[in-house]
Parts: sequence; structure tokens; C-alpha cells
Amino acid sequence: MSEVVFRTVKSSQVILKELMVPSYANFGGKVHGGIILSLMDKIAYTCAATHAQGYCVTASVDSVDFVNPVEVGELLTLYASVNYVGKSSMEVGIKVVSEDFKQGIVKHTNTSYFTMVALDEETRKPTPVAGLQLEDEEEMRRFVMGKLRKKLRRAHQKEINDIRQALDQDLSQAMTELEGENCLLPRG
Ligand SMILES: CC(C)(COP(=O)(O)OP(=O)(O)OC[C@H]1O[C@@H](n2cnc3c(N)ncnc32)[C@H](O)[C@@H]1OP(=O)(O)O)[C@@H](O)C(=O)NCCC(=O)NCCS
Repeated sequence: MSEVVFRTVKSSQVILKELMVPSYANFGGKVHGGIILSLMDKIAYTCAATHAQGYCVTASVDSVDFVNPVEVGELLTLYASVNYVGKSSMEVGIKVVSEDFKQGIVKHTNTSYFTMVALDEETRKPTPVAGLQLEDEEEMRRFVMGKLRKKLRRAHQKEINDIRQALDQDLSQAMTELEGENCLLPRG
């Protein structure tokens, strides 16, 4: 029988720092959101794969709201931590801050939650991961919140599927209700 393993939150925490160079800018001169999303995916993978000690994939990403723009020349710091572990899935919480050296200003850019799933290298099917050894109340709070968000994600997915199914049955009716929407209908 395989031994049950638990790993601490600290053992897989990751900090990633990256300077925002001019090639990251969008047409408005600010850092492109996609650059930040890519760094978030990278740190989520590093954190989850360290906890799982194996290959993982990104199953879902919760909404990402950019609360402050990031300027070229700023230093972006991403903090990632495993909040919650199910059987094969892990919720990784990511906080992003940007720092303007010259003015000494640190801004919160965004926070989001990535669900990563550990896969068996051979079968490519979800595989169980180590549990989390919680060491203080803050880690317990994050675990409870992660569990709650997993429940909400499932409920949300079910609601979307139900709406989609209902819409499939009544698509022609819904298409007659586009009057007043911000779209032009095909002629004829
Ligand atoms: C994620 C994936 C492995 C799940 O496979 P699956 O056969 O649906 O797996 P299961 O239903 O057995 O679920 C396995 C775990 O994943 C979680 N999960 C599955 N789909 C999920 C989703 N969309 N969002 C969050 N968690 C999800 C389940 O809750 C479950 O967690 P648990 O084991 O901790 O209880 C599969 O959908 C996949 O390979 N997706 C593509 C991933 C990928 O390529 N990512 C990169 C995108 S560019």
C-alpha cells in the first residue's frame, strides 16, 4: 500500500520577479495583459508541480481583474501558494504587484486563482497528489476558502451547462430577441 504524503504550503511557495521591458508594451505604452497572464500561468505551474512532484496542467483560471496598469520599467513580482488540494487538483493563489523603483511606489496589480491538475506521466489521466500540511490559522483559512471556491466553480459550471442546454432547445426563439442589442442583423 502506498504511503499517504502531506507537504507544507511553504515547501511549494514561489516568488517570481520580472522586469517589464519595452518589448512587453501594448499600443498604449502599458504592459500587455497577456504578458502578465503568461507569467501567472508559469508560476502556477511551478508551484503546483513542486507540490505534486510531477506533471500538471492548468484546468481553469478564475476571473482576472487588472486593478492597476503596469508600466514599462517597473518590476513585477508574483507570489504563488497552494491554497487547497483535492484529490488530483490544486488551487494555486497568485498575487501580482508592480513596483516603480524611482518613485518607490508598490501597486497591487491583480489576484487570481488557478486550478491545476496533476497528471500521470504515462496515462495522462488525473493522479492523486499529496495532501497539504497546514501550519497556521491563515493556511487553514485559505484552505477553507479554496474548498468553497471549488464548490462555487462546479455550481457555476453546472449553471452554464444548464443554460446552454436550455438555449440549444430554444435557440430560434432567442435569435428573434436580438432587437435592441448592439449588433446588426444579416439582411434578408
Ligand atoms: C483538467 C483535466 C485533466 C481534467 O480531466 P477530467 O477527466 O475532467 O478529470 P476529472 O473529472 O477526473 O477531474 C479531476 C480533477 O480536476 C478537477 N477539474 C476538472 N475540470 C476542472 C475545471 N474545468 N476547473 C477546475 N477543476 C477541474 C476536478 O474537480 C477534479 O479535482 P479533484 O481530483 O481534486 O477532485 C482535463 O480536462 C484536461 O486535460 N484539460 C486540458 C488541460 C490543458 O491542456 N491545459 C492547458 C490549456 S492551454
